[in-house]
Amino acid sequence: FKGPTKPSRNPQAPAVGFPTTRMRRNRRTDWSRRLVAENRLGVDDLIWPVFVHAGDEPRIPVPSMPGVVRHSVDALVEAVGEAAALGIPMVAVFPLVDPALKDPEGSNAVEPDNVVCRAVRAIKAAGIDIGVMCDAALDPFTSHGHDGLMRGEEILNDETVEVLVRQSLIQAEAGCDVISPSDMMDGRIGAIRTGLDAAGHGHVQIMAYAAKYSSGFYGPFRDAVGSASTLGKGSKDTYQMSPANTDEAIREVALDLAEGADMVMVKPGMPYLDIVRRVKDTFAVPTFAYQVSGEYAMLRAADERGWLDGNRVIMESLLGFKRAGADGVLTYFAVEVARRLKAG
Ligand code: PBG
Repeated sequence: FKGPTKPSRNPQAPAVGFPTTRMRRNRRTDWSRRLVAENRLGVDDLIWPVFVHAGDEPRIPVPSMPGVVRHSVDALVEAVGEAAALGIPMVAVFPLVDPALKDPEGSNAVEPDNVVCRAVRAIKAAGIDIGVMCDAALDPFTSHGHDGLMRGEEILNDETVEVLVRQSLIQAEAGCDVISPSDMMDGRIGAIRTGLDAAGHGHVQIMAYAAKYSSGFYGPFRDAVGSASTLGKGSKDTYQMSPANTDEAIREVALDLAEGADMVMVKPGMPYLDIVRRVKDTFAVPTFAYQVSGEYAMLRAADERGWLDGNRVIMESLLGFKRAGADGVLTYFAVEVARRLKAG
């Protein structure tokens, strides 16, 4: 490396480097910018979370998530077919459960004919070549909106894990490819793995919501699955992680991997990119981030008001996940982004 032969006239310039080194040289042309790009977002990075309800209405909008709907089973099959045609590798299915079916035990969660299982069976029966992931968690099914069984104000851990295993089994039976426990009970990954293996579902993968924070960014999701009203002012702080913590996320991920998780997830996404990076660097395992409902709502709302250029900030936010080390992103923007990527 040869430094400048004479001192720069710019007093801010470092003693060596400039003007020999000009960072802008690589940025001058489009082809050069493409050539030096370190990260890229592709359709293979996308997981599309979808909502399904048991009624006939093809699409019921989610008011706090403009552009997102709760599909009927038939409409969902059509939408998932479209996602597969675009090359999206996986969808994550979430239910809107009829309030009449909710009870304190979330018993509809272990009912083999519930709307999640019916949706999975319909997607598989249609022969669509796409991965189907289902949450193991009780909150869309419980009358109190919590992810676990309760005694008084307490969320019962081990009793809940037993139900989660049963929920996972009926979902696997229905054809679900990936179980994603999003409940944050201790020990559930190992129990679900053991249960799946014993029932002959050794090929079913587990994507653990390993570092899931107790977050205000889940608000619109709770509208979408109808748990906002059941949960009310209830807090998930006794089982989801504190936004203050980082080391704790590493312990959570280590435990889930030791218990048999195939992939791990950090959630929410944008405010937790430091966690994504640290998990990826520490464990070097398939690591995913969930750009959650509140993140979707923020970007969408600002775009609708003309305060941000939606196209631009959506792509920028997703590239940020790649830069942080994520192998993929769950995002409600998946289909529109896949279309844009296809169009070039
Ligand atoms: C349920 C669950 C939640 C989300 C995914 N699974 C909400 C919660 O924990 O309250 C949030 C997803 C989103 O906000 O997009 N256990």
